[in-house]
Amino acid sequence: MSDFYANKIALAPMVKGGRTPLRLLALKYGAELVYTEEIVDVKLLHSRRVVNDILGTVDYLNNTEVVLRIAKEEREKIVLQIGTNNAENAVGVLKKLQGDVAALDVNMGCPKPFSISGGMGAALLSKPESVKHILTALVANATIPISCKIRVLDEPSKTAEFVKMLESTGIQAFGIHGRRRDERPGDDNRISEIKEVVGLVKIPVIANGNSYLIKENADIEKFRTDTTASSVMIGRKALQNPSIFRKEGVLTMEEEISDFLDLACQYDESYTQTKYVVQRILGGQQEFDPRGRATVAAVNVIEICQAWGKEDVYIKWRDYRRRHSLKRKEGPLE
Ligand code: FNR
Repeated sequence: MSDFYANKIALAPMVKGGRTPLRLLALKYGAELVYTEEIVDVKLLHSRRVVNDILGTVDYLNNTEVVLRIAKEEREKIVLQIGTNNAENAVGVLKKLQGDVAALDVNMGCPKPFSISGGMGAALLSKPESVKHILTALVANATIPISCKIRVLDEPSKTAEFVKMLESTGIQAFGIHGRRRDERPGDDNRISEIKEVVGLVKIPVIANGNSYLIKENADIEKFRTDTTASSVMIGRKALQNPSIFRKEGVLTMEEEISDFLDLACQYDESYTQTKYVVQRILGGQQEFDPRGRATVAAVNVIEICQAWGKEDVYIKWRDYRRRHSLKRKEGPLE
């Protein structure tokens, strides 16, 4: 058993948030593991693997859509999170991607209708037999650590039964969000129920769900201590304030957006994804800060960069890509 998931501070999986630039930013600021956004198994199975020698990444593409872009710097820290409802697809994804990611996690906590109606996410919490089958098959075929992410069940005794079953499959860790399937972010996180679970298993538990109480880096450690979990994962707070991972203290919104745009430009992130993260960091400032209003009005990445005085960075990376793709047409890169 490796200690891959033990004693770590992680960026939680977040659709639209947990893509290359935010993952790299979280690592730069001090996160030790970074989860991808949830990607549905069939999307990865249908994707095409491309080694992108211009960006120095491995890309999984559906036509021109970048489903997953893995940078060299995150190769040892990236946890691919998948949405799945069956072992065959899950193992197919594992076999296809395990050479490119550090670990694979199965989402068993998402309560959104899209996941539930497809038998994925939190729907799996009521199908222990199916979960057992999926995780056992993954573990049997894996050369990398396997984990899953759950929510607490409706009664602590049911959670206890479920996590013991999880451990019996041979997975290396699981994340646990202390809200029940039908609870929402406004409800309290059930710290005591997470703590109870930690006492029931030997594998590392990754506590989750406390962003609403995390105001500074020390609060992350407090969450770990309160739950007695080996590791913790941070979602919403890391999207709003990625420098929360910095032990030296949080940075200003301007510094975070500037650092994020450097990475979005370098890794050629799309307009919609770039705008989404900048808007999340801006939060309530979108209307009051003139750069926030310019971000909202922007229709492409260069306009977002202009709003933050980063046009030169955008142009530098755009020209770099153009130069190298021209060279590539002529022959191998030096
Ligand atoms: C999420 N969450 C989530 N969970 C998951 O397992 N896979 C996912 O893809 C997503 N996507 C996602 C997107 C966004 C925008 C948010 C805010 C949340 C849930 C997330 O990982 C975490 O469990 C919750 O946000 C609770 O933890 P925090 O935010 O209190 O740290």
